[in-house]
Amino acid sequence: MKFTKTIEVKNIFNKISYKYDFLNNLLSFGLHRLWKRKLVNLLEPINGEDWADLCCGTGDLAFLISERVSPMGSITGIDSAEDILKIAKKKSELKKNKFIKWEIQDVLEINDYSKNFDGICMSYGLRNLNNVEEGIKKVFYLLKDKGRAGFLDFNHSTKSSLSNIFQKIYLRFVVLTISRLFNLGPEYAYIEKSIRNFPKKNELINIAKEVGFQKAEYMTILGGQMGILILTK
Ligand SMILES: C[S@@+](CC[C@H](N)C(=O)[O-])C[C@H]1O[C@@H](n2cnc3c(N)ncnc32)[C@H](O)[C@@H]1O
Repeated sequence: MKFTKTIEVKNIFNKISYKYDFLNNLLSFGLHRLWKRKLVNLLEPINGEDWADLCCGTGDLAFLISERVSPMGSITGIDSAEDILKIAKKKSELKKNKFIKWEIQDVLEINDYSKNFDGICMSYGLRNLNNVEEGIKKVFYLLKDKGRAGFLDFNHSTKSSLSNIFQKIYLRFVVLTISRLFNLGPEYAYIEKSIRNFPKKNELINIAKEVGFQKAEYMTILGGQMGILILTK
């Protein structure tokens, strides 16, 4: 069953936007910050490079990358949900960060390939796209030659593995219980369905290679709960 639908996903993220950062911190016990930093460390953005944070949400990765690529480079945060992007912009104002450009756009509909990026990152975005393969293809076309891309997301582990069982327990009993307290139960119940439809480690690597990436590496975090895919064009 293909669950993902762009409008449905956009509505979800507009609806949860006002509690997004708060719940992210609470539900991951703050760990998402460490994982995002790990992704950025693996990608090694440097001053002068042009980067994009696709499906940027409230912009965590964009803020981390802006510290590395400024003042000579650039970072653009792109997301299709207006309300979550408003929060990213508000955070920029509070941090007095005028460096990041924010763009409202559906990633799968980007067709301006004039700005070739040195690097592209995406956290918890790929799984939400209507078509994962199209998303990886889009990233490929948006990158310069030898450009690199990194994706952080839930890991789709093998059915009935310990990691899979733990993930289900965590999503059903921790995430759902807490999100229901904020009347966001159905929106967070979506995570489990989206992981079921998300390609597993080897499938992601195969898609990336078929798309044309020279190098594709995947590593799991926290006993297989999360995964990081690193690609080189
Ligand atoms: C789970 S959030 C992740 C946000 C942020 N990257 C983070 O890690 O906190 C997923 C984000 O992807 C965005 N998104 C989903 N589908 C999209 C699409 N087709 N184009 C652009 N953004 C999209 C949503 O609006 C949402 O902000």
